[in-house]
Amino acid sequence: MKTWIRWAALSGVPTVALRMLARRGEPFAQLLTDPHARENPYPFGARIRAEGRLVRKSYMLVSADHEICRKILRDKNFGTTPPEAIDLPSPLRRLIRATDLRLASPVEPPSMLMVDPPEHTRYRKLVAGAFTPRAVARLRDRVREVTDELLDGLSERENADLIGDFALLLPIAIISEILGIPAAKRDDMLEYGNAGSPLLDISISWAQFRAAVAALRESQNLRVGHIERLRRAPGDDILSDLATGGQLTDRELLATATLIAGAGFETTVNLLGNGIMLLRDHPDQLAMLRAEPARWPGAIEEMLRYDSPVQMTTRTALCDSEIAGEQIRAGETIALLLGAANRDPAVFLDPDTFDITRSNARDHLSFGSGAHACLGASLARIEGTIALQALYDRYPELHHVGPATRRGLVNLRGYQHIPVATGAKRHAALG
Ligand code: HEM
Repeated sequence: MKTWIRWAALSGVPTVALRMLARRGEPFAQLLTDPHARENPYPFGARIRAEGRLVRKSYMLVSADHEICRKILRDKNFGTTPPEAIDLPSPLRRLIRATDLRLASPVEPPSMLMVDPPEHTRYRKLVAGAFTPRAVARLRDRVREVTDELLDGLSERENADLIGDFALLLPIAIISEILGIPAAKRDDMLEYGNAGSPLLDISISWAQFRAAVAALRESQNLRVGHIERLRRAPGDDILSDLATGGQLTDRELLATATLIAGAGFETTVNLLGNGIMLLRDHPDQLAMLRAEPARWPGAIEEMLRYDSPVQMTTRTALCDSEIAGEQIRAGETIALLLGAANRDPAVFLDPDTFDITRSNARDHLSFGSGAHACLGASLARIEGTIALQALYDRYPELHHVGPATRRGLVNLRGYQHIPVATGAKRHAALG
C-alpha cells in the first residue's frame, strides 16, 4: 500500500495532469507522456526552446537552452531535486515524505546525485580518485580485453543482438571490477539494473514502479551481502576501500555503491546502442571512420551530443533569483533538457545533422556540468571508443537484420535490441 501511495503521489497523479496538458498541445507535457516523443524527443525540445529560454509551466520551469542549462547546473544557488523536493502541490509532497521506502536508490538521498554540499563534497571526494582520467587510463587495457572476449563470442554466431550480446555486457563487466563484484553476480546486477531505470522518468506505470522498487530491494540485499564479504576480505577496489575506511555510514556506503553501479551501466549501454544505430543511419560517417580511425573520439562526442543517453535532469532553486528575465522563487523545480540543449542552434551549427567532424561536439551537456558533472565521463568515453571501433574493425560485414527497438523510457534514452548479422560465418567460409 505504501509503495502504491508513493507511486500515485510521484507519478500517477502528475501523469494524469500531464496527459491533460499534453492533449491541449503543451510540448513539455507531450515530451514527458507522448509515445511519439519516446521515439524522437527532439522536435518537442525545439518547440519548448521556441517558447523561450526558460519557460514557466503550470507545474515547473523548463529550459532547452544550452547556455541556461549549463548556467543553472553550475550555479550554487540551485541544488538537487530529491523526490520530496519536487515542487508539487503540498498534499502530494506530504504523501511523498510519509512514504519514504528507505531503499538505497540512485535517485534518493544519500545518493551523491541527490545531495548538496557539504554532504555532496564529502561523498564525491571519497570516490573521485577511482575515476580520474589517469586512474581510468589504467583500465584501458582491461576494457580492450573484455571487448575482445565479447567480440570473440559473437564470432560463433550468425545473428546477434548488439545490446544483449555486447553493449550490456561490457559496462557491467568493467563496473563490476571497479566495485569488486564477482563475475557470478553479474547476471543479477544486469536484471536489477534494468528494472530500476524507469525510476528516472516522471510518468511511469504502477507496474513499472512496483517492479523497479522490487528490483531495488533485491539489489540492496545483494549489495549488503557483498559489502559484508568485502569487509571480511577486502580486495583492491574502491568499494573495499570505502567499506573498510570508516568514513561512510552503512546507509551512505550502500547508496554510493548503488549509484555507481546504476550510473555506470545503463548510460554507457545507451551510448553504445545509440552510436551503433547512428552509424547504421549514416554510412558515410562510418566510411569516414574506417578511413580515418583517429576520428573515433570525436565521433563518440558527436554521438553523445546528437542522441544523449541521459535526456534531462532537474534542479531546485535554493533562494530567490532571476534568470533570463524570469523570477525564480526558492523551492521551485527546473527541468533542464540536456538532450534538447545539445541541439541548440545558438551553440551547434546545423544541430540536427550528425557530423563526426563537428569541432565543438564536446561542448554537449550529456555528462551534465558543474558540481555533479558525471564522475564516469572518462570511463564512458574510453568504453565507447574502444568498443565501437573494435566492433566495426572486427566485423566489417556487419549488417542490420530486422528492426531495432527502443527501451521506451523518456530520460534514459537507448535501445532494447539491435539485431544484426555479423557476417562472421560467411567470412570464415570464404577464408
Ligand atoms: C555515456 C555514459 C554516461 C552518461 C551519458 C552519464 C551522464 C551523467 C549525467 C548527465 C550526470 C549528471 C546528472 C545531474 O547533474 O543531475 C551524471 C552523474 C554521475 N555519473 Fe554519469 N554518465 C555516464 C557514465 C557514467 C559512468 C561509466 C559512471 C561510473 C562508473 C558514472 C557515474 C556517475 C556518478 C557517480 C554521477 C554523480 C556525480 C555527482 O552527483 O557528483 N556515469 N552522469
